[in-house]
Formats: sequence, C-alpha cells, structure tokens
Amino acid sequence: MDGRDWGLFLQPYEQAVEELKVKFKTMRAELKLRESYAPIEFVTGRVKRISSILEKAKRLGVASDQLDAGIEDIAGIRIMCQFVDDIHRVASLIRNRKDLTLVYEKDYITNYKESGYRSFHMIVKYPVQTALGYTEVLAEIQIRTLAMNFWATIEHSLHYKFKESLPDEVRQRLKKAAEAAFLLDNEMTSIRKEILDAQTDFEEQSNVVSRVLNGIQDLYFYHRVREAAQFQMKFNELFELGDYPGLHALAGDISAAIGKAKKGSPGE
Ligand code: GTP
Ligand code: MG
Repeated sequence: MDGRDWGLFLQPYEQAVEELKVKFKTMRAELKLRESYAPIEFVTGRVKRISSILEKAKRLGVASDQLDAGIEDIAGIRIMCQFVDDIHRVASLIRNRKDLTLVYEKDYITNYKESGYRSFHMIVKYPVQTALGYTEVLAEIQIRTLAMNFWATIEHSLHYKFKESLPDEVRQRLKKAAEAAFLLDNEMTSIRKEILDAQTDFEEQSNVVSRVLNGIQDLYFYHRVREAAQFQMKFNELFELGDYPGLHALAGDISAAIGKAKKGSPGE
C-alpha cells in the first residue's frame, strides 16, 4: 500500500458518493412532486479520510491490498428523515433500486448501540463507470431522523475530542441524551399521527355533510317535501352542535327514507 496512488484509489469512491448524492436528492425532489411530502429531509456524503481508512484497517486487521473489500464505508452517504417511519420507507425504496445491490443491513434503531447510537445502515455495492473502465465499490448508507443525527453528530465530535478518555459521567449523560432523542422521535411520530387522523376526520365530516344535503335534495325530487324539511331542520340542529355521530345517524335515516320513496310509497 505504501506505493499506492491514493488519488487513483479513491477516485471511484469520490464518483460513487457524487452520483449517490445526486440520486437521493433527485428521489427527494421526485417524491415531493408526486406525493407533496418527501420522506427525505436532506442528504450528505463523504469519502473517508486516508488517515481514518488506515486507522480502521489497522484496527480490523485488513491487509493493505484488501481495503476495497475490508472497509465498507470508504464511500458514505447519510440520509436524514423527519420521522422514524420515513426511514423504513426510504430503506424499502433503496432495496428496490436496480442501480445498486444490497449487501446487508444493520438495524441500529431496533438494536441501538451501547453508546446510545441509533440509525439504519445499508451496505450496498455500487457500479461505477470510470474513464479507465467499470468497477464496483462498497458504500455505506446511513438513514436516520434529524434527532438521531443531532445526537450522533455531537456525540461523534465529543468522542473525537476526548478519544478513549471520555469521562464515564459524560458517557452516561450521552446515553441519557440518546434516550431523550428517542422520546422526541416518538412524540413527533404521535403528533404526526394525530394530525393525519384529524385530516381523515375532517374529510369524513365533509363527506357526511354532503351525504345529508344531497339526500335531502333527493327527497325533494321524490316530492317528500315534509320529510325533507324535517331532515333539514334536524341537520341544522346537529350541524350547529357539531354532532358528527348524530349526522352519521341522520345520513342513515335519510338513505332509508330515499329507499322507501324510490319504491314508490305514496308521497304527500
Ligand atoms: P466504524 O464504527 O465506522 O469503525 O465501523 P464498524 O464496522 O464498527 O461499523 P458500525 O456499524 O459500528 O459503524 C458504522 C458507522 O456508524 C460509523 O462509522 C459511524 O458513522 C456510525 N456509528 C456507529 N456507532 C456510533 C456511535 O456510537 N456514535 C456515533 N456518533 N456514530 C456511530
Ligand atoms: Mg463501530
């Protein structure tokens, strides 16, 4: 490895990171357009520094001519999401892609690390066409929420600063902070669920109102004038009270009345 041209060795990794960043940023834009909500908040990428590659190779006992197979995160992509559910959505979109191959996954969300670290990792094989030919490189894709990223970024910088000498007390407080980030993610998920439920409720409410009003219209059509007027009064009363269960029941009564009217029982 001593005589290695690092620039040349790292070139396909640089290219892989640039291409993958473009692809995931495009995925974000496309989903935003299609679904007016993007499960991806933002994307970053980096090529591992030479010193970190050498350190990791030494730690893992990877031979200098085996770096490409032995170190899986020379090319690294990070995808940040708003919600934990988005992570699973993004992971499944990645699994279905034809322009990369999944090698394996590490679910540090279900099985968070001793440090408190949470993230979803996918190791993929990515094909690169360079000027000199075709090759494949490994890349590590880390998918995490903004809260997980916030924690990991700060924890990493503290680790970097203190190395192995990170005081035990700090380590414990970082674990506590990881717990707080976990609770924050859960709380955001439940708030989101409530908003989504409220939206469905709102739609159901608009639907029941139009069912009642259209039904009353139909009764007039069948000359059920008195019934229609009674239902209209009942509607005004329930709508005023915001009584949606009552409105649902009223919609049912009106359907029944229309059914009878259709069978031609004499009107008034
Ligand atoms: P390295 O941890 O990278 O040396 O490799 P590994 O083979 O042990 O893989 P692992 O899945 O443990 O970690 C891969 C990457 O996840 C790391 O390079 C970090 O980016 C991230 N990571 C893992 N554990 C932690 C952690 O405790 N804190 C932070 N901040 N990041 C972590
Ligand atoms: Mg590790």
